[in-house]
Amino acid sequence: MSTDEERRRRRHEPSPYLVIVGDDSRGDRKHVSPSASRNTGPILSALKPLLPSTGLVLEIASGTGQHCIAFAREFPGLSFQPSDPDPAARASIDAWRGEDSNGNILPALDLNVAAQDWWAAVDGPVTAIIAINLLHISPWAATTGLFAGAEPLLAPDGMVITYGAYKRDGRHTAPSNADFDASLRHRNAEWGVRDIDDVADVTRSHGLDLAEIIDMPSNNMLLVWQRI
Ligand SMILES: C[S@@+](CC[C@H](N)C(=O)[O-])C[C@H]1O[C@@H](n2cnc3c(N)ncnc32)[C@H](O)[C@@H]1O
Repeated sequence: MSTDEERRRRRHEPSPYLVIVGDDSRGDRKHVSPSASRNTGPILSALKPLLPSTGLVLEIASGTGQHCIAFAREFPGLSFQPSDPDPAARASIDAWRGEDSNGNILPALDLNVAAQDWWAAVDGPVTAIIAINLLHISPWAATTGLFAGAEPLLAPDGMVITYGAYKRDGRHTAPSNADFDASLRHRNAEWGVRDIDDVADVTRSHGLDLAEIIDMPSNNMLLVWQRI
């Protein structure tokens, strides 16, 4: 995590990812992110043929919690464990959880996948680990840590699903992604759009390989990583 990010969290400043929709002064801590509002539908459609009907799904970097509540409504037989290292994000996730009529969302966990042994706080095995817009908006240690934790946590037929912008064969897939990459690196030199091959080198060292690439709107991709 960057020094700026740590400073912001110590001062309890709001996350730049989160936009307040409820009245915080009255305790409504639900937030929305415009990008999550746009991509929730397409992500749900991509997940439908992938996820089994029962099991535990761990979401890393849940952000506002909008994805988690939508997943929980769409997949009532699955249990969802949301998480985020940001306290404001966890407050928003838990506020959305208050609208969980299926009762299949667990309280948000404080998980930082760049931290050592982060997976010890999760009661596995898990059927799937989902990380949306994390790999490019975090230092590389978050990518290596995510898959290090997937190795002990995943059930034998489990999968890791990552969503975001990626390079293929060392090249951006669209000019807008190159601009996005430059803006990310300007904000934090440790962030940036990752190359699928570099991510695959990490996953293979933890017994996982790329099983599927699903093209998504706005030059994003949903990647499915399964045990070799
Ligand atoms: C761009 S937001 C994405 C949030 C949400 N998944 C979405 O797509 O709307 C990135 C999220 O990653 C979280 N994050 C950053 N570094 C992390 C880490 N090392 N481990 C877990 N989460 C992290 C941030 O707190 C933030 O909520």
